[in-house]
Amino acid sequence: MMKILITGGAGFIGSHVVRKFVKTYPSYTIYNLDALTYAGNLENLKDIDALPNYEFIKGDIANEEFITRLFKDYVFDGVVHLAAESHVDRSISDPMAFVKTNVIGTVNLLNGFKNIWQGNFNDKRFYHVSTDEVYGSLGADGLFTETTPYDPNSPYSASKASSDHFVRAYGETYGMPYVITNCSNNYGPYHFPEKLIPLFINNIIEKKPLPVYGDGKYTRDWLFVEDHANAIDLVFHKGSNHETYNIGGFNEWQNIDLVKLLCDIMDQKLSRPVGSSQALISYVKDRPGHDLRYAIDASKINKELGWKPSVTFEEGLDKTVDWYLSNEEWLNNVTSGDYQEYYKNMYK
Ligand code: NAD
Ligand code: DAU
Repeated sequence: MMKILITGGAGFIGSHVVRKFVKTYPSYTIYNLDALTYAGNLENLKDIDALPNYEFIKGDIANEEFITRLFKDYVFDGVVHLAAESHVDRSISDPMAFVKTNVIGTVNLLNGFKNIWQGNFNDKRFYHVSTDEVYGSLGADGLFTETTPYDPNSPYSASKASSDHFVRAYGETYGMPYVITNCSNNYGPYHFPEKLIPLFINNIIEKKPLPVYGDGKYTRDWLFVEDHANAIDLVFHKGSNHETYNIGGFNEWQNIDLVKLLCDIMDQKLSRPVGSSQALISYVKDRPGHDLRYAIDASKINKELGWKPSVTFEEGLDKTVDWYLSNEEWLNNVTSGDYQEYYKNMYK
């Protein structure tokens, strides 16, 4: 039995990765370590949590003592590390939370893994899930490749860049077998409604204003979350050690165009008059340090491992909207309590 630790498995992407691994590999035991912050939700995994090869562990990766003990007790063969503070706007108001989880938490996990295997890393692997935001911002042209220099602009991306450097350094210094992937913007079911797409879906349902930052001309490259989980599975099993792979959707959208498309889909699904959701669009103060454009060159993972997205954006968005409309209880649960306070402060 391979023992695989997945961190952040109760979050958005992590829950899809846990589901994929638990279902695809009955001969592995999957341990999901998550602190259950505001972004972690065990409801995201209720369809698989009774399966015999799945175990949940509640804990904080920033707690060195706890992590040291955990690795000694369980002796994991592999780690897929997703746990992070992940929202750029929150990193602007509370950078230290990002240093603690994203930097210190990652180094704790690296130490835990290094110390149990003491250099005998045969067939072991540390997989670090990172973001395209470490590369900073593109102008109107060009794509991020694996050799684009790091140039992070937000406390979030700076903390992710720092954690990427630590992973690489542990590979060089201690011979730890690692892979890193840098992915573009994900969307899909279980996405917490602080991020653009689920926030706007929720606001449209509630007929609340849609707060578009600045002029709305910022560009992101969107990937359906299950395609990211497929890529993680592939890289974990087939990727080369000490390599990084960019993952992206070949799918660039200016925010305002994406928002208008989403509005039109929602009008149709909710049987509302054409244009009623677009009427909710409201331009608001820009995000400080807002990166203009992200776009990924995913040709390395495509050529070396044969990965490509399996759904078009239209299909993915359609599935996503359907999921939110049929999971009203999930949406109501995550938008009650602390979320209301966050929303009031963020969009005042
Ligand atoms: P998320 O915020 O939805 O989930 C993060 C999870 O980590 C939550 O379950 C949370 O409880 C857990 N967590 C936070 N702090 C923790 C701590 N100290 N100890 C243990 N668990 C903790 O994030 P996401 O969007 O699913 O992103 C997952 C990973 O993928 C992150 O590393 C992020 O940087 C990366 N990523 C995200 C995107 C995206 O578009 N969402 C794109 C590329 C890369
Ligand atoms: O590129 C990968 C990154 O994508 C991940 O590493 C991050 O974890 C993830 O949060 C995401 O970061 P972004 O900042 O690109 O995502 P967000 O959904 O917050 O914003 C997408 C775009 O929409 C961005 O240009 C800001 C804009 N926006 C966002 C919100 C929340 C708005 O105009 N209004 C909003 O209310």
